[in-house]
Amino acid sequence: MSFVSHVECTICSARHDAKRLLTVCEKCGQMLAVRYDLARVKASVTKDMLRQRAAGMYRLRELTPLDDAEEPVTLGEGGTPLLALPRLAAHLGMKKLWAKDEGQNPTGSFKARGLGMAITRSRTLGARGFVIPSAGNAGGAAAVYAARCGLPCVVIVPRGTPPAAIAEAQIAGAHVFTIEGSIATAGRVVAKVAPQLGWFDLSTLKEPYRLEGKKTIGLELAEQLDWRMPDLLLYPTGGGTGLVGIPKGYEELRAMGWLSGELPRFFAVQAEGCAPVVKAFVEGAETTTAWDSPTTHAAGLRVPSPFAGRQMLRLLRDTRGGAVAVSEQAIQEAQRLVARTEGIWTAPESAALVAALALLKERGEAVRDAEIMLIFTGSGLKYEPPPLAAPTDLAGTDEQVVAQVRRVAGA
Ligand SMILES: Cc1ncc(COP(=O)(O)O)c(C=O)c1O
Ligand SMILES: [Zn+2]
Repeated sequence: MSFVSHVECTICSARHDAKRLLTVCEKCGQMLAVRYDLARVKASVTKDMLRQRAAGMYRLRELTPLDDAEEPVTLGEGGTPLLALPRLAAHLGMKKLWAKDEGQNPTGSFKARGLGMAITRSRTLGARGFVIPSAGNAGGAAAVYAARCGLPCVVIVPRGTPPAAIAEAQIAGAHVFTIEGSIATAGRVVAKVAPQLGWFDLSTLKEPYRLEGKKTIGLELAEQLDWRMPDLLLYPTGGGTGLVGIPKGYEELRAMGWLSGELPRFFAVQAEGCAPVVKAFVEGAETTTAWDSPTTHAAGLRVPSPFAGRQMLRLLRDTRGGAVAVSEQAIQEAQRLVARTEGIWTAPESAALVAALALLKERGEAVRDAEIMLIFTGSGLKYEPPPLAAPTDLAGTDEQVVAQVRRVAGA
């Protein structure tokens, strides 16, 4: 028994049987979402009960799609810290900045949540192998969770994907393929090959389970901020799982009476070299159109035609949020700034959020006195570092070396 009532299409509302292994809406081909009997969840768990439970993605298990006895395929994902960023806030001239540091997940990114949940649930419902197109982190996470439950996995990534993510998938035993183009090219191959292999297609939001993992970021944020929501929330947007998932978590808690007030204003942050959501938002379009020749070093943002464009744009408008594109140089500078001021080497995707804050301030958005949440989606350790000065090479006698250190360090 779970608290799931059904699975519903996010566009045409068609109901689907939650006990079957599902992909996209069988009526209109759009994205599906799991729905819960929230009154029954509310009657079964209290905030006090929650406080007694272990940290992690399954802490509020009633709001996950797992059956009663279902064992999650887990490496301890979730339960990441919410970090105040006072030094960065002071540097930017802002009052309150928070980061949810998702780089502390297994596999070093928030993809652990989505893929952990998707592999858990789809395996229970009959999946016997997995196929995924990825910009890097999702493929690494899929491979790791597939290994964790002893099932095979195919990962297809564009050429130029960060080597650490490829190695992570390979060492976990996945079959890794690189292809010219972007995640969209990889996705087209996956759509064709998955049914031929008879394995489950884990493409972003083309199955309803990954979203339930990403949603747990919202559940955790609500509890960590003592059942309040921030004024603004910035999210580095590729396929948009978090941009759809985090508000889903907030809305479910709101429907249970655990949270009150308005949703935060959501902002999608993209790179100038691949900004289909920003373009569609600025043009007032209902959905995104494919971005030609996507380029950015923030690999997770190189998604030229996100499947859930319509759902993301709806959220940005409904919450009076926005969409911002930042340059490669601004991303690199922000990466160094965050590490220097707060000690967090965050991924280029999430460093983009800090670059976007400066732009929002310039545009006159009310950021100075707002409580702002940044989703730091991954660790910088899996990427080529931004340009840094070479370390000073020491040589000579002990005295010479000591003098050299003193001169450089200024002591
Ligand atoms: C570190 C990082 N941040 C952000 C993203 C974008 O996430 P989403 O596809 O949910 O928009 C990715 C996706 O690969 C990522 O790896
Ligand atoms: Zn539909």
